Amino acid sequence: MKQSDEIWWRHGVFYQIYPRSFQDSNADGVGDIRGIIDRLPYLQALGIDAIWLSPVFPSPMADFGYDIADYTGIDPLFGMMADFDDLMSAAHASGFKVILDLVPNHTSDQHPWFVESRGSRDNARRDWYIWHEPAADGGPPNNWLSEFGGSSWTFDAATSQYYYHAFLAQQPDLNWRNPAVRHAIHDVMRFWLGKGVDGFRVDVIWHLIKDAEFRDNPPNPHFREGRPPHEKILTRYSTDQPEVHEVIAEMRRVIDEFDDRVLIGEIYLPLHRLVAYYGNDLGGAHLPFNFALLSTLWSARSIEKIIADYEAALPAGAWPNWVLGNHDRPRVASRVGPDQARVAAMLLLTLRGTPTFYYGDEIGMHQVAIAPERVRDPFEKNVPGIGVGRDGCRTPMQWDATAHGGFSRAMPWLPLPDDFVHENVVNLEADARSILSLYKALITLRRKLLPLRSGDYVPIAAQGDLLLYRRQSEGQAVVIALNLGDQPVSIASGAAGLNGDILLSTFLDREAEKVDGTLDLRGNEGVMIGV
Ligand code: NOJ
Repeated sequence: MKQSDEIWWRHGVFYQIYPRSFQDSNADGVGDIRGIIDRLPYLQALGIDAIWLSPVFPSPMADFGYDIADYTGIDPLFGMMADFDDLMSAAHASGFKVILDLVPNHTSDQHPWFVESRGSRDNARRDWYIWHEPAADGGPPNNWLSEFGGSSWTFDAATSQYYYHAFLAQQPDLNWRNPAVRHAIHDVMRFWLGKGVDGFRVDVIWHLIKDAEFRDNPPNPHFREGRPPHEKILTRYSTDQPEVHEVIAEMRRVIDEFDDRVLIGEIYLPLHRLVAYYGNDLGGAHLPFNFALLSTLWSARSIEKIIADYEAALPAGAWPNWVLGNHDRPRVASRVGPDQARVAAMLLLTLRGTPTFYYGDEIGMHQVAIAPERVRDPFEKNVPGIGVGRDGCRTPMQWDATAHGGFSRAMPWLPLPDDFVHENVVNLEADARSILSLYKALITLRRKLLPLRSGDYVPIAAQGDLLLYRRQSEGQAVVIALNLGDQPVSIASGAAGLNGDILLSTFLDREAEKVDGTLDLRGNEGVMIGV
């Protein structure tokens, strides 16, 4: 039995790559697998341990790969299977783990399973998807709404029934109550695990099972105008059903057929519901993604409370995790501002639990304004004008100051912001005090210091904009002091246990300074102190 600190997905730092936007190698304006291989040295210098790739499978790209037409292939846009195999070998040779996106809740409407399913009412795959008679008035069977706008039911005139799709009409939901569907996806998992893939991030895992009776969802009494229309109803019957945990336990058993793999679940639920996804006897997801930092008010007291609530809710033996950004949410540098983005990095990389960050966050990439004619995201197209668009966080990686930021020799599928000429990897690598240098320093310290990797989290009482905590293990401890405000803060350091040596400031200019009696922080500064 491995000690917990030897388990790679507990101490490793996870990095999400959105393949369309990382590096284009064949000048078509879209990133690809060869491009990722070319950039592995950058990732090695950054110091991350595991790469999660958003989908690279054959897809009509209605939802940019989250609409899969073949679960065991590679879309030609990204390369060939040989390229993927090369990526696996090169990544493993460089010491990286590789996580793939598994999208089992829905397929593309072009997937042969769905083509067959919609072909007739009595074909063998009819029950692989969720078909329903119209309501008495001929309308949709119930009031469930698609997350991307409109009803989540689409009428199929040829067979006079509706099919269910939690997202686009081009993304019909599979029927996970059908054992044949489960077995088919288990075989997909085995296919990739057999190729050496180190695990999966499972898309919308809390959606897999729907209410057996398809009861109407209740209205959301807290709905606010300006929010996406699907929030008008709660998802009481369409997501987070009790039977989903057995489905996840089955997936976990497939994962456990192979050594040392990880199962990560994408779950947007309140913390007390989220932790159920570790499963009974922890036989569920190893890491149910914790997105609390993506939506919290960015204040010391709110974050302190989230950490406390999460730590308290974790079942015995469950390993925590924290996520700072992804391809669905506004960039952290825009959510919290460029100055606090450094504090956010120190927070993420010093909390207890596996950290995940999103490509480009390490160079402070911000949300990019997308002109109406360049909008690509179907969510924005269906629900325009209220700011739901996800293109702004999916723009090309800013590698250097050359045309298209060194991302591509052709016009990229999404624009780069004007400031890429300064804010790019080459420039920031040359700057010893850049946010990129901060990320590297944080990752290096996390690797070096056992308290950061696996120590306990101990809150220290603080006030105002100051967030204070201690990480400790086996007689070693570090204290983290984060100023969430833009004004300087001073506190007496002796009584709070903060005396010691500064190991790192988010400004990268105070290393080896002693703290003795008073700790002074500048506005927007975080420090780590060896105590
Ligand atoms: C969650 C993914 O992260 C998102 O990008 C996608 O649109 C939906 N699932 C539907 O697959």
